[in-house]
Order: sequence, then structure tokens, then C-alpha cells
Amino acid sequence: TAASATGSDGIAVLEKPGSVAETFGIPLAVLLELTHRCPLQCPYCSNPLELERGGAELSTDEWKRVLSELARIGVLQVHFSGGEPTARKDLVELVRHATEVGLYTNLITSAVLLSRERLATLADAGLAHVQISFQGSEASLADRVGGFAGGHAKKLEVARWTRELDLPLTVNAVMHRQNLHLLPDIIEMAVQLDADRLEVANVQYYGWALKNRAALMPTIAQIKDCTATVEAARERLKGVLAIDYVIPDYYAARPKKCMGGWGRQFFNISPSGKVLPCHAAETITGLDFPSVRDGASIAEIWRDAEAFNRYRGTGWMQEPCASCAFKEIDFGGCRCQAFALAGDAAATDPACALSPLHDRIFKTAEAEATSGSDRFLYRNFAGGTAKDA
Ligand code: SF4
Ligand code: FES
Repeated sequence: TAASATGSDGIAVLEKPGSVAETFGIPLAVLLELTHRCPLQCPYCSNPLELERGGAELSTDEWKRVLSELARIGVLQVHFSGGEPTARKDLVELVRHATEVGLYTNLITSAVLLSRERLATLADAGLAHVQISFQGSEASLADRVGGFAGGHAKKLEVARWTRELDLPLTVNAVMHRQNLHLLPDIIEMAVQLDADRLEVANVQYYGWALKNRAALMPTIAQIKDCTATVEAARERLKGVLAIDYVIPDYYAARPKKCMGGWGRQFFNISPSGKVLPCHAAETITGLDFPSVRDGASIAEIWRDAEAFNRYRGTGWMQEPCASCAFKEIDFGGCRCQAFALAGDAAATDPACALSPLHDRIFKTAEAEATSGSDRFLYRNFAGGTAKDA
């Protein structure tokens, strides 16, 4: 264990100079959700249903202090995310500060608020990478999914500017029943946009996505096609486009190793400064997440906070996980999904075939995939707005 002291900026630091990240296994990359404000209203958003209001957000100085602290404890990379991070007027200042303290910066954006000039200023400030989310490859469908007219055309424009400014580009495509038929076109779009990487991310079902599951859940046939399309494209586009692929785990026999295991490889910071073991962690009620405003250092929160330690490792597991040969491989799946579907974050993730809930949930999902309505509940601060296709 390490002793704590107070740094020059008034926050507690761990007295392990130069080796905090290594000693405490602090992740090398951290997700910073600068704001929950967003012009889009995607029905699968991973933000909590209770969005944090603009007035609660960390100030520019608070975020700068966080960035300095992250660099000091050995973090190498930050992902500026949201909501929509470009909704923060101080984004350029934050990117510049991150660069000055030695952090590699990635912007995860819907792109619709960016001008070419602002993107160029971000590049000048040291922005190292841009990831743009797409809702499809056809404007009418993509704009309906995002709930934002004209969004798709703007994204294409910003993607081109990104490459003109010589910034590496990742295309992120969140896939579900209503856009999976577009996957071959989306792959082609990513090639045309000169992206280095395409993330084919099937929707994960908690938070807003769980509310919209009946409208989003793919059929088994769609998932088979999707896997075959990705495999063929990976082969064909070797050296041109790297493709990351996340299968929806409702259709797998074993769950994903979510977040690399709770409190093992990942944390993120919410708009108001809460340090979270997972971007959807606040969907689990009854956990208390410390804030960077509370006085403890980020390294202390990572090491000591109850919310991190509750599901860290394997000691908290119940059966069937507790005596399962895979428990160190998948760490019992996803805590947020276990809470959402089993009502207990310490339960086996029902995506696992060994969960007593698996068959029932899988059958419900299968039924929703074939007969669910396409109606979305759009994400917003009012708790969601339902609209027909
Ligand atoms: Fe993983 Fe638990 Fe399922 Fe075993 S029972 S495969 S540890 S989720
Ligand atoms: Fe939170 Fe899986 S999404 S642990």
C-alpha cells in the first residue's frame, strides 16, 4: 500500500513517484465524458437514463487539473467523449492542455457541430486522432436513427476534412436490426473516407438501448451475415482498413469480458467528475461513485473506492461463476447487463448460457428481433421521446 499526501494543487496524491500507473495497474487510456449534452438522440446511447445537466459539468480548470493528474499518474492517452464533446466551448483549450502535459488525444464525436476551422484549430492544439460515429451509410436512415436531420451529410464532410488535415480517422458504426443490411456499404464508405479503422459495434443492451431493445435487436440470420461480411472484408482489406467487430452477446454462448473485467483495465470520468469503472456503471443503482471534486486523488479512487472493489477480481462471484473454469477469462461478463436483466450486478451475466435466465432472455430477444416494432424512444434530457419510423 502507498501513503497519501497532498499535492501542490490541493489534491491527494499517492507517494509512489513515477510508478503509480504500474504499481496500481492504472489504465494507460482513459475515457473523459466532457458533457452529456448532444445534438443527436441515438436510441442506443450508452449514457445513463438520468443524464447530467450542463450546470453540473466540471469547469475548464477542473478538467485541466484532471488532465494534469492523469498524466502525472502515468496515463498516456485520453479519449474526449460525451454526449458530444464538441458541445464544450473549451474543447480546444482542453486538447491543448492535454497535449502540453504529454497526453495523446482522441476525439470521439458525432461531428455535426464541427466547422473546418474548429477542426483545424483542434489539430493545431495537438489533437492526434478523430473517431466519427455513423448511424448508417444512407442519409435518410442514418438521420432517423440519430434523430438529427442533415447529420449524415455533415459527418461525411467532417470525415473528409479530418483526412485533409492529415489526422487519422476511425469510423464507428453502431449496428442493429434496422441498419445491419447496410454493413457492406458502410465498409465501402469507410474505405472511401480513407479511415484507418472501422468499428462494427453491435448495440449492447443496457440504458437507452435496453429501452429500445425491441426496435434494435437483430435476427440470428442478420448476425450470421454480419460475421461473414466482416470476415470477408477483413481478408480483402488487409493493410487498407482494420475492422474491429463486437458481436451482440445475446447471440453468443459466453458473455464478453466487459471492460476487460470490472476495475481491471478501464475507467472513465463523467461530466460532473465521477470516476466510473464503466461508462454505463451509473445504470447500476446503489453504487456510490466518488468524484474528482471530493478530494481523493484519481489513483486513490481507482485503488480504494468501494464501487471499484465491489466487483473487482473474482471473490464477489456467485454460482455458476464462482466455480466456473472461465471466471478469470470473462470475469462473469458484464455487471451492467447483469443488473439490467437479473436485477443484481453480482449475478452471472444472463448472456452466459450457464445463467439460469439465459434461455428466457434469449427467447424474448429472438421474438423481439422478428416481431418488435421499429419505433424508437429517443435519448434526451426529458427522459426520452417516442417516435414512429
Ligand atoms: Fe463466465 Fe460466469 Fe458464464 Fe462461467 S458462468 S462462462 S465465469 S459468465
Ligand atoms: Fe458496464 Fe459491462 S457495460 S460492466
